[in-house]
Amino acid sequence: MFNTVKIDEVYDVDITSLENEGKGVCKVGGMICFVPKVLPGEKVKIRITEIKKNYARGKLIDVLKPSDKRIDPNCPFYKDCGGCHLRHQSKEDNLLFKKEKVETALKRIGKVDIEVDDVIPCIKNDNYRNKMSFKVENNKIGFYEEGTYRLVSIDKCNLAENRINEILGVVKEYLNENENEIKMINVRESNITNELLIDIYSVNENDIDIASYLALNESVSTVIFNDKVVYGNGYINEITNGLMFKVSSNSFYQVNSIQVEKLYEQAIKMAELQKDEVALDLYCGTGTIACIISGYVKKVLGIELVDDAIIDAKENLITNNINNVRFICGDAAKEISKINEKVDVIFVDPPRKGIDRKAIAVMKKLAPKKIIYISCNPVTMSRDISYLTDLYDVKKVTPVDMFPNTEHVECICFLERR
Ligand SMILES: C[S@@+](CC[C@H](N)C(=O)[O-])C[C@H]1O[C@@H](n2cnc3c(N)ncnc32)[C@H](O)[C@@H]1O
Repeated sequence: MFNTVKIDEVYDVDITSLENEGKGVCKVGGMICFVPKVLPGEKVKIRITEIKKNYARGKLIDVLKPSDKRIDPNCPFYKDCGGCHLRHQSKEDNLLFKKEKVETALKRIGKVDIEVDDVIPCIKNDNYRNKMSFKVENNKIGFYEEGTYRLVSIDKCNLAENRINEILGVVKEYLNENENEIKMINVRESNITNELLIDIYSVNENDIDIASYLALNESVSTVIFNDKVVYGNGYINEITNGLMFKVSSNSFYQVNSIQVEKLYEQAIKMAELQKDEVALDLYCGTGTIACIISGYVKKVLGIELVDDAIIDAKENLITNNINNVRFICGDAAKEISKINEKVDVIFVDPPRKGIDRKAIAVMKKLAPKKIIYISCNPVTMSRDISYLTDLYDVKKVTPVDMFPNTEHVECICFLERR
């Protein structure tokens, strides 16, 4: 059909459903169009922002007929900011959306028909993020508008822990008063140890002045500028599941400190670990899972690519008095192929792009009885599971809400060898 849709034109459309990233689906001029921040059943006014061969993208201008499920997003920046996606959706519907998203991905991509558990909710809907990455441009700080590189300046982010917002205010004051070429500021905090780390990236080395300025703030415990520690020790400590973890600026740590405890608890429960078992923690980060399961098994091996994370992981063994875990720094696919002992259970928690295909092939050769797959991306998780189901059955799937008010969901899958 001849396509009449034009860029920048305004249309009134009916939203029929949400796609897997939480964007509304509608038809405009016979073409499928995706619109953020709307709900099924709504009539909305949109402006077309992008036209591709088979679909278009639109931006919400006005809600003409709201869904009775729409709630007040309670954020003055939400309309333009790309930081979160589903603040206009009730918590109940958000959890349902996440459950269905996991179920659909498993069915369509994984070819696995299983009833997914209800999502484990987070007790906090806001102020749960222990880490934020703010973009900086022309003395403004915030996030990009969804699907663009247009910076939306913000004063605070409801998702961030309160102390991160306090520091955001301090950073804003500095940026307002000082010409700079800073590009990014990461803030990470532990509400358990009260430490706070700031990591600044600038294209101009003279901007190091901001580091001294921020170091004066009494809640800041360490400041890093262009990968150099300029104040404090360059890391923070987190406590979860009864153990203490050193987390350096380059090391991964789950962003929701409250839910992480439930995530790991659930994963361990599913694995039904035995004292004589050998476990592998693939993509182990700072060794959280390896350390936590060490008390339940005979021995654990952890594999992780980032040097700093492995340095942290090794120190975490000493701090927590653990002596049955060995960490290996290197690429998962390469290092797993060197394992020549029997592995009973693999915990695998890869980045969003999923498990390397070669690593999956070796996992199958190692043929552990149990695989616990933890993922923040149901799509790649389902793809990887489709490569495992010739040997494994998916026995249990439990999503965990690590990211309230967004489209993101964490998920734990238990696979058992036939
Ligand atoms: C989602 S995190 C999981 C970390 C850890 N399991 C946790 O719960 O904190 C994924 C980890 O995989 C690591 N990673 C990414 N690519 C890798 C690769 N090719 N080989 C090994 N590790 C990799 C990242 O550095 C990151 O620490």
